[in-house]
Amino acid sequence: MDPITNSDTLVLQLDSKKSSIIIGRGIFASLSSLITYKKWDVIIAIVSETVYALHKEVIDQSLSLIDAIIIQYNDSEQNKSYAYAEQYFNLLLENQCTRNSLVIGIGGGVTTDFAGYVASAYMRGIDVVYVPTTLLAMVDASIGGKVAVNIKAGKNIVGHFHQPDYIIIDIDFLQTLPLSEWRCGMSEVVKHALIGDSSTLTLLMNKEIQYGYIDNSLYSCINSSVRFKASVVEKDEFEKNIRAILNFGHTVGHAIESLLEYTVSHGDAVAAGILIESYISMKEGMPKADFDCVRDIISAYNLLPNISFDPNKIVNHMMYDKKNIKGKTRFVLLESIGKPRIGCEVNDSLVKEALNFYLTMIKK
Ligand SMILES: NC(=O)c1ccc[n+]([C@@H]2O[C@H](COP(=O)([O-])OP(=O)(O)OC[C@H]3O[C@@H](n4cnc5c(N)ncnc54)[C@H](O)[C@@H]3O)[C@@H](O)[C@H]2O)c1
Repeated sequence: MDPITNSDTLVLQLDSKKSSIIIGRGIFASLSSLITYKKWDVIIAIVSETVYALHKEVIDQSLSLIDAIIIQYNDSEQNKSYAYAEQYFNLLLENQCTRNSLVIGIGGGVTTDFAGYVASAYMRGIDVVYVPTTLLAMVDASIGGKVAVNIKAGKNIVGHFHQPDYIIIDIDFLQTLPLSEWRCGMSEVVKHALIGDSSTLTLLMNKEIQYGYIDNSLYSCINSSVRFKASVVEKDEFEKNIRAILNFGHTVGHAIESLLEYTVSHGDAVAAGILIESYISMKEGMPKADFDCVRDIISAYNLLPNISFDPNKIVNHMMYDKKNIKGKTRFVLLESIGKPRIGCEVNDSLVKEALNFYLTMIKK
């Protein structure tokens, strides 16, 4: 494979602010020259403990050039909590952070969501920069400005829209990413490909992306996936309409995750959700050839979890999804690959048929 020699910058013009995304290989080492436009008085880096242990040398070297104070963060989902955030507000105060300070979040989606939430609430909102280090955080969690923490009643219940000033995507971080986390990110990559990211769709159909290969195909795939999500966010920053297409696969996915009490990962649940919602799409008119293509891609990347659930309970659970309107479950369906439609109502009997199709398929 050719070495990656380039990096790419994308500037998002949002209603709330301008946000720059820089994608490349080995670029994190040059962080000090990439985030230059403001003079922040204090810079706090909230760094995933795991990522810090794996990439200590480059993180120390890069952050020392901007005099950042490193606070290591135990990035379990339980610590993405409102209670934990309060401890970080105090840490920011102790370090004399003001309204002109900066938070940098370095890690997976848990860390970027948490750092983003802390920055969004501290002194009514201060600047934040993300350095996502999982595939999922690169193509999804770090893009779009949604920040949130969990409370006892549920995941991501407390949050804001708070756009980062910069997102620095250095794909070299993926060298240490475990396969299970890679698969989670691939589910979101596949989702983008199916709802409109045609360049990535071609790469996936040709099986050009492989775990463990940090090459030009991966760079193109991440670049295209990021650009696709950014283009959707730019059209509808606050999810009033079109941004909802990004929930494809997530109506069923969330219900599976929640019913199984988060014993299945988000990415696995979304992969199952994508296949089940594609089945529903086919029954509602999507060409069968498109459904076969979805199934091929998901199988080729081995994304489907071997899980069991009661279809009736999933249907009941979907009624409680926070994105539902007046108790009615709405789906994002595909008219064809690349043509999503939002706000679709589907008969419970068809949803159960699709769930049963999934259960039968994974038993084979
Ligand atoms: N804000 C949004 O729009 C949005 C969108 C999707 C998901 N999310 C949130 O993102 C979170 C999930 O993110 P995630 O999948 O990145 O999980 P994560 O942050 O939990 O990371 C997964 C695991 O990988 C480890 N890790 C991170 N980078 C690594 C690296 N380079 N090498 C080795 N290990 C590494 C982490 O320590 C962790 O153990 C959830 O909390 C979800 O709610 C937010």
